[in-house]
Amino acid sequence: MGFKILNIITWEKTNPPPNFSCRYFTHSTEQIIWARKHEKIPHYFNYELMKQLNNDKQMKDVWRLPAITSWEKSCGKHPTQKPLSVLTRLILASTHCDAWILDPFTGSSTTGIAANLFGRNFVGIDKEKDFLELSRKRRIEIENPQITTIYRKKINTMMDSILIKECRK
Ligand SMILES: C[S@@+](CC[C@H](N)C(=O)[O-])C[C@H]1O[C@@H](n2cnc3c(N)ncnc32)[C@H](O)[C@@H]1O
Repeated sequence: MGFKILNIITWEKTNPPPNFSCRYFTHSTEQIIWARKHEKIPHYFNYELMKQLNNDKQMKDVWRLPAITSWEKSCGKHPTQKPLSVLTRLILASTHCDAWILDPFTGSSTTGIAANLFGRNFVGIDKEKDFLELSRKRRIEIENPQITTIYRKKINTMMDSILIKECRK
């Protein structure tokens, strides 16, 4: 399709749900394909910030981050909701402040919440009205500055990183 694959990132869940059948290894990873649209048009990579977030060492393509936790479901549940820490790292690594980000399969809009918490703009699309309603509730929730501050701190803690100061609104 003409995309250039830049990295295949492995997200290793630090707290994966157990395998109740006890007939397999515990499923504890997911893959993220980072690609750009064209071979020749350059992409953006915030190398320095990623290094800072990794104790001043180059960030690897294996990310050890927790699976979704209960505070991220305060507005309701989506069956395949992703954690804010994973989406935040992706957004900070690959977009400028004030970027516009599109998620055409937005679900509960974790991408959008992470985008807005860290100063990016967002458009989301989903075919399910209920998920759009859940997204709307999550967006309204972060209009409260106290919640925004708490969520940013929690995301930083989950990423086990320095406090991210980059382009907060
Ligand atoms: C894996 S979920 C996204 C989860 C999201 N990242 C989150 O954290 O909540 C994919 C979403 O795509 C939506 N979807 C699937 N096919 C679609 C289509 N053709 N057009 C729009 N949305 C679609 C589903 O309703 C579902 O909510």
